[in-house]
Amino acid sequence: MRVLLAGGAGYIGSHTAVALLEAGHDIVVADNYANSSAEAIRRVEEITGKSVDLFEADVTNHEDMRRVFDAKPIDVVIHFAGLKAVGESVEKPVKYYRNNIDTTLTLLEVMAEKGVHNIVFSSSATVYGDENDVPYVETMKKGSCTNPYGWTKSMMEQIFTDAAKADPEMSVVLLRYFNPIGAHESGLIGEDPQGIPNNLMPYITQVAVGRRDHLTVFGDDYDTPDGTCRRDYIHVMDLAEGHVKAVEYAAEHKGTEIFNLGTGTPYSVLDIVKAFRKASGVEIKYEIGPRRAGDVQDCWADATKAEKVLGWTAKRGIEDMCRDAWNWQSKNPNGYRD
Ligand code: NAD
Ligand code: WQD
Repeated sequence: MRVLLAGGAGYIGSHTAVALLEAGHDIVVADNYANSSAEAIRRVEEITGKSVDLFEADVTNHEDMRRVFDAKPIDVVIHFAGLKAVGESVEKPVKYYRNNIDTTLTLLEVMAEKGVHNIVFSSSATVYGDENDVPYVETMKKGSCTNPYGWTKSMMEQIFTDAAKADPEMSVVLLRYFNPIGAHESGLIGEDPQGIPNNLMPYITQVAVGRRDHLTVFGDDYDTPDGTCRRDYIHVMDLAEGHVKAVEYAAEHKGTEIFNLGTGTPYSVLDIVKAFRKASGVEIKYEIGPRRAGDVQDCWADATKAEKVLGWTAKRGIEDMCRDAWNWQSKNPNGYRD
C-alpha cells in the first residue's frame, strides 16, 4: 500500500515512516516543517535504505495537498499534522484551532475530491478529560479537555466521525496515544522539541546532556504512592508499529473505530527519573515545584481493544524507552541541528 503521512517529518511521523517502510509499504510525506525538519526524513532513508517522496506542503492549503495527492495514488492517509504545545495553545487558542481544524477539513475535502477514503488520525488520551476513571477505555464518554489543544483533538475526532457517518465508503481510525517517549534504536531519529521542552522525557534528556540545569517535578502532593503524577509511557517504535496495524485495518474496514495506543502500565514522574538514571548512568538533578495547571493525576490505557482487534501490543519496556531516549540525545545533543 502507499500511505501519505501528513505531518510525517515530526517525531511520531518519522518513526512511523520507518515502521511502514520496514513492513513493505510505500510512503509519501507532506510537512510544512512548522515543528520539524527535512533532515528527519533524510535519516529515515538512511535507516531503511529506501527513498521517500517528500513534499514541503501546508496541510491547510488545498493547492499544496492536490499536488501531493496528484503525484502518486494514495491508499491510506495518516493525519499527524498539527500543533501540539499545550501551554502555547492556552496563550494562542485561535492559532491552534485554525491550524489543527483546518488541516483536518482540507484533508477531508481533498481526499473526497481525489477518491481517497481511508484515514488514520493522531488523537490523544487528553480527550478522556478529567471526569473518567483510569484505566481509560474507548467506550467511555469523552471528557472536558483542560486546554485548547485537547479540544482541537476532541473536535477533530467528531469531524472525522461525522464525515464517516455521511459517507459509507469512508474508513476512519482514531488512535488515542498515551505518552510516547524514546527513539529509534539507531539513535538517528528522535524527539527534537524547539525551545524549552514541554514534555517530561525531552526535558530529562536535555538536563542529562547539560542543556538545562535541573528538572522541576510538577507537584509531589498527589494521591499516588510517591505523590507525583502517573502516566502511560509508550515507546515511540511500539506506537509506530501500532500505526502499521491501523493502516492495514483502515484499508479493510469501513466506518469509525477508536483505539487506545498505550501499554496499560503507569509510571510516576519519579519512577521515570529513576529509570532514566539507571539506563543512562547520569544523575538527573531535580527540584519539586508546584503542580502544573491542567495536569490530571492519573492517565493510563486499557489497551485490550488494540490487542484483540489489531493484534497489536506494546513490546518495549521502560528501560528500553529510557535507553533509546538517551542514545538519541547523547548522539544528537542539539537534535537535528547537530
Ligand atoms: P510533531 O510536532 O513532531 O509533528 C507534527 C508535525 O506536523 C510536524 O512535523 C509539523 O511540522 C507538522 N505540521 C503542523 N502543522 C502543519 C501544517 N499545517 N501543514 C503541514 N505540516 C504541519 O508532533 P508529534 O509528537 O510527532 O505528534 C504527531 C501528532 O500526534 C500530532 O497531531 C500530535 O498532536 C499528536 N499527538 C502527539 C502526542 C505526543 O505526546 N507527542 C500525544 C498525542 C497525540
Ligand atoms: C508527564 C508528567 C507532568 C514536565 C501531554 C499532553 C497530552 C499528550 C502528551 C499530545 C506529568 C510531569 C512534565 C516537567 C514534570 N500530548 N512533568 N516536569 O502532560 O501527560 O501529556 O503530552 O496529545 O495531550 O497534555 O505529558 O510529558 O508533559 O508530562 O514534572 O518538566 O511529567 O506534570 O505528570 P502529559 P508531559
